[in-house]
Amino acid sequence: MTLEKEKTIMDHDTVSLDDEGNAVVIIDQTLLPVRTELIRLKTAEEIWNAIYLLKVRGAPAIGVTAAFGIYLLAKSCKEENYDRFLANFRKNKEYLDSSRPTAVNLSWALNRMECVVTEHPGASVAELLTLLKKEAEEIRDEDIRVCRKIGEYGLTLLKKGDGILTHCNAGRLAAVRYGTATAPIYLGQEKGYGFHVYADETRPLLQGARLTAYELLFAGVDVTLICDNMASAVMKNGWVNAVLVGCDRVAANGDTANKIGTSGVAVLAAHYGIPFYVCAPTSTIDLSTPTGADIRIEERKPEEVSEMWYRERMAPEGVKIFNPAFDVTDHSLITGFVTEYGILRAPFAEAFRKLPGKREPENRD
Ligand code: MRU
Repeated sequence: MTLEKEKTIMDHDTVSLDDEGNAVVIIDQTLLPVRTELIRLKTAEEIWNAIYLLKVRGAPAIGVTAAFGIYLLAKSCKEENYDRFLANFRKNKEYLDSSRPTAVNLSWALNRMECVVTEHPGASVAELLTLLKKEAEEIRDEDIRVCRKIGEYGLTLLKKGDGILTHCNAGRLAAVRYGTATAPIYLGQEKGYGFHVYADETRPLLQGARLTAYELLFAGVDVTLICDNMASAVMKNGWVNAVLVGCDRVAANGDTANKIGTSGVAVLAAHYGIPFYVCAPTSTIDLSTPTGADIRIEERKPEEVSEMWYRERMAPEGVKIFNPAFDVTDHSLITGFVTEYGILRAPFAEAFRKLPGKREPENRD
């Protein structure tokens, strides 16, 4: 499955379709920062595993992978009959959607792809495949445009020389190119803002250390890696002027699921009077989820905490381990959402409803 070695992350988009349209190509993020390898995903199982095992991760990147993935699976479907093609499409959609539960971008992208089929009843399979490919490419292109806009709006919140703390990886590796929380940082870098970035290492899977620190360092940004439990110390020292994080699902009231540890950072930021911004493509705002309590939080294997990164096990055999992959930051702790349409401030429920294409579902129980 390995394609080539020793290229840098800047040589590739995080997710793409190969030139022949036969495979989803991703950077295997589990190997970073030591090795940059591309892998080609072709089967439903390969795509599902790549998402579940975090070879590709980050809400927008998962969405783009699923969009290209379902297109490939539709392409390999042998059915010529519309109804059977749709049934097969839905089976694959349900399977890919089960790979990770928290990031809404996964089902959002798959639903968009399904609409292409359901909005063209009776179309030939050849026509449907052309439309599906176009839609998947549009989902990818939108991500690049949206992240760029988030970068432009985010930069208006920052000053030259600011200290910025970020958690997990909401960078180019979590999207296609700019990332969300890193987009203002990259744009600021282009314009000589001289930011000082603090990257939380992000236990247990170290997305901050392995990915954020790596991609920012690569881009020449002044980045300092800290353990998660050092965030309070750097804030107390007065080194942080703003916190920028990404999100996996934003509920209708503004409660926000993001990588485990984010809510703790928000509590600290509130304590020290530091603005806390969530960089959010509006695709991640899910008005069908009323509050954070309604967001399903992925729980992962205990080994990720007890042994994954250690030479030897670092916890006693048999100890109980709790390993939620995400937590929910209460909307009251969020200073604003940086979206492709601008900065949204509280009351968030109202601000979200005014966004293009967002309307709260009717008849909710
Ligand atoms: O488990 P991960 O690595 O997929 O978690 C990713 C995050 O929590 C990101 O902050 C989030 O997806 C936003 S990415 C722009």
